[in-house]
Amino acid sequence: MEKLKVGLIGAGGIASVHANILSRDERVELVGVADVHAPAAEAFASRYGLRHQASDYSALIPHIDAAIVAIPTHLHSQAAASLLRAGKAVFCEKPLARTREQAQEILDAQSASGAPLQVGFVRRFDAEWQAWAEVVRGGRIGSPVVWRDVQAHAGPNSAWYYEDEQGGGPFLDGCVHNYDWALQLFGPAQWAFCHARSFRGSSAFDTGTATVRFQSGDELLISWSWGLPPRTSGGSVFEVLGPYGALTFQREGEGAPYFQIKQDDVVRREPIDPDALSKAYEAQMDEFVRVARGETAPTAGGADGVAALELALAVLESARIQQVVAVGS
Ligand SMILES: NC(=O)c1ccc[n+]([C@@H]2O[C@H](COP(=O)([O-])OP(=O)(O)OC[C@H]3O[C@@H](n4cnc5c(N)ncnc54)[C@H](O)[C@@H]3O)[C@@H](O)[C@H]2O)c1
Repeated sequence: MEKLKVGLIGAGGIASVHANILSRDERVELVGVADVHAPAAEAFASRYGLRHQASDYSALIPHIDAAIVAIPTHLHSQAAASLLRAGKAVFCEKPLARTREQAQEILDAQSASGAPLQVGFVRRFDAEWQAWAEVVRGGRIGSPVVWRDVQAHAGPNSAWYYEDEQGGGPFLDGCVHNYDWALQLFGPAQWAFCHARSFRGSSAFDTGTATVRFQSGDELLISWSWGLPPRTSGGSVFEVLGPYGALTFQREGEGAPYFQIKQDDVVRREPIDPDALSKAYEAQMDEFVRVARGETAPTAGGADGVAALELALAVLESARIQQVVAVGS
């Protein structure tokens, strides 16, 4: 079978993660990169030995079968929609888009052309997240559950992450993984409430706390900051609480990481693969190659991208109006 010709749209941080994986894949030929910042495209092309480099993604279209869209979130829709309209298989990084309208443009392009679309919800491939979700699904800590995720650090480097109309801040960009996961695990959401602020004075909220209640009664609580000074981090909590027990995680410190299921005096330890996330990135790209070759449907497609985006938009709206926002009604 001929090699799948893949182009990268964007030569930033996550594009390198995907290119490192795809450059080792015998089914793939990495043929080009497009980045508006010419030196970035040039450095990327020389690092991976790519034949084509451009400032505009449309220049790559004649040379590729499939594309990785890894540019700032508010720009996903123009690139993803035109690549889909040109019949190219598209892997679009999460969040699918910055607005519901942009997301619709991508969905419309996909349904018009029938070309495959995969959305970058890498946690879907993460063995650690799968393992703890299985404990919850199996009813071992009872129901409903409360999933609490607390973390604080300086956030990603690029400035667009902190502009409301571009990246939307952590309650869109980072937490969209949690929203997607919770929608899979708990089912449809009922309401969201968020109070947030910006420590860094940017247009997007970078610090705050969001609660999402699901129709099942399960709850997701996220208290995040991407507003701390460089190289500074706060404490973190990652746990799932239920009426019959608690799931807690030990990822740092001495010894191999694990999570534990605590019930009364009984504590059961389950090991965590420290490389689970990097293996998840590999599994995600392996799936994309198969998706692009028509061998399988994506685990996370356009509808999943929209569902997680709609929940993120409800969280952001709640933070803006300082009221509970109903979801999906
Ligand atoms: N799934 C994950 O775990 C994960 C992790 C990081 C980032 N992401 C997502 O990937 C996307 C990119 O993030 P990043 O951290 O790599 O960003 P980045 O800022 O590191 O890189 C973005 C690159 O896109 C280029 N660019 C901007 N506009 C462009 C355009 N119109 N055409 C071509 N290139 C353009 C920039 O010059 C830059 O080199 C975002 O949507 C982000 O949310 C996902």
